[in-house]
Amino acid sequence: MAYDFDVVVIGAGPGGYVAAIRAAQNGLKVACIEKRETLGGTCLNVGCIPSKALLHASEKFEEVAGDHLKALGISVKGAKFDLDAMLAEKDSAVKQLTGGIEFLFKKNKVEWIKGYGRFQDAHTIEVEAADGVTRTVTTKNTIIATGSDVISLPGVAIDGEVVVSSTEALSLPKVPEHMVVIGGGVIGLELGSVWRRLGAKVTVVEYLDRILPTMDGEVSKETAKILKKQGMEILTSTKVVAVEVDAKGKNRGAVVRVEPAKGGEAQEIKCDVVLMSIGRRPFLDGLGLDKIGVALDERGRVKVGHDFSTNVAGVYAIGDAIPGPMLAHKAEDEGVACADNLAGLNGIVNHEVIPSVVYTMPEVASVGRSEEELKAAGIKYKAGKFPFMANSRAKANHDTLGFVKVLADAQTDRVLGVHIVGSLAGTMIAQAAQAMEFGASSEDIALTCHAHPTHSEALKEAAMAAHGKPIHI
Ligand code: FAD
Ligand code: NAI
Repeated sequence: MAYDFDVVVIGAGPGGYVAAIRAAQNGLKVACIEKRETLGGTCLNVGCIPSKALLHASEKFEEVAGDHLKALGISVKGAKFDLDAMLAEKDSAVKQLTGGIEFLFKKNKVEWIKGYGRFQDAHTIEVEAADGVTRTVTTKNTIIATGSDVISLPGVAIDGEVVVSSTEALSLPKVPEHMVVIGGGVIGLELGSVWRRLGAKVTVVEYLDRILPTMDGEVSKETAKILKKQGMEILTSTKVVAVEVDAKGKNRGAVVRVEPAKGGEAQEIKCDVVLMSIGRRPFLDGLGLDKIGVALDERGRVKVGHDFSTNVAGVYAIGDAIPGPMLAHKAEDEGVACADNLAGLNGIVNHEVIPSVVYTMPEVASVGRSEEELKAAGIKYKAGKFPFMANSRAKANHDTLGFVKVLADAQTDRVLGVHIVGSLAGTMIAQAAQAMEFGASSEDIALTCHAHPTHSEALKEAAMAAHGKPIHI
């Protein structure tokens, strides 16, 4: 049977747009269905890019307004910021980058079908445009790349003004006096940092006994210590029992009632903005998956095999819609691999080596397994740690917060995990990921010549420390 397309991708986030481009590069006839006005998905529109733009701008402000530069002999008097200009700059970054994807679609001859995609059957998709006009396309293969959406606590409505999700927290019209962040994960700490730097009091309420609970324990402890020192209030082992939005008009705000997670005396926190950041859910609404019988797992994610195929022939899924960390680069790599598989090539993603970065200052980055995971799996390991305090470049730059930790197999010395807290952690983790992909031992990293003076030497020294012979501590 002749189909309109070889591949139709539903969703143009980092998973979907990358899959569409790669499939087209592989010589396939491709369309990408996207319901938003712009391409790029959560990441470019309301995720990675706008949050990093605000993190960067607020970090620069704090740098000049705080005491940070004094140690270097620089003082800036009367530093000010213009929130409207800051938000406009962020919007401009988003516009340029989403426009860039449109250009790439044209360049690669990917047809963008604007509207909401719904399966009619496994090879037929109806697309409803914003004006209600529908178009039906047939396709040999479909990639579901519909991403994820925010979630809230049961009984707490996100109204977008007082109780906000990350999306509204990227565009608050004024700096809150007091922001309560529910959930001490990545969004809470990143966007909490943005608004704290701009003047808000920020209280983070985390249900578990530590922030960043999926990261290495020592890393989350160090990060909490640093963020608290920066002025962020962090309440761990604390549950939110109610959020009451009060008063309309000028004095709009909320009372967040919290109590110890194990039960105990409740306390009330008054605030003007509540940021809900307790995680995200796969977004598969209205896609018609029940109609074609695509199987989901217990958490509502599309079940896939190693090649991203679902249980329905010709239907694949990638990105936030399937299991694994909800990260843009994971979605992108899955997009490339899935599109290569559809072209008869050999697309593989090594899910053991997906780096993750929290863009606070200092940054927090990790790849591979944490100490807790290795212990739970009964794997014997050795650890090497090196503080930035002993790194010459960091010392000269007055940039000494954090450390690098290398975890390697006790017997084979193969690197199993690298965890970094440090100003350049997000950039440094790429070297660790590459070393792990090449099956490196910690000795390989220790014997690799690193330029001096760089923060990266801390990774080399941590690897040397795994053998008990670091030079500079
Ligand atoms: P998405 O980016 O969610 O894209 C899915 C697209 O599909 C959307 O555009 C949606 O409109 C469209 N769609 C859904 N259903 C349909 C349908 N039926 N028809 C047509 N279109 C449809 N990750 C990082 O790696 N680094 C970061 O720094 C980072 N920062 C983040 C900051 C925030 C505030 C948030 C919320 C997320 C952040 N993430 C970050 C996570 C990252 O955005 C996601 O992991 C990534 O966008 C997932 O890509 P995706 O392609 O699977 O889905
Ligand atoms: P998250 O999973 O990172 O963090 C949620 C936090 O909320 C966890 O610490 C969890 O223990 C806590 N929590 C859950 N229920 C709670 C409750 N009832 N009360 C208090 N705390 C509660 O989710 P987050 O921050 O919402 O981010 C969503 C996704 O977006 C993440 O999976 C992340 O990967 C991605 N993201 C990635 C970024 C990056 O790579 N830099 C930046 C922002 C988001």
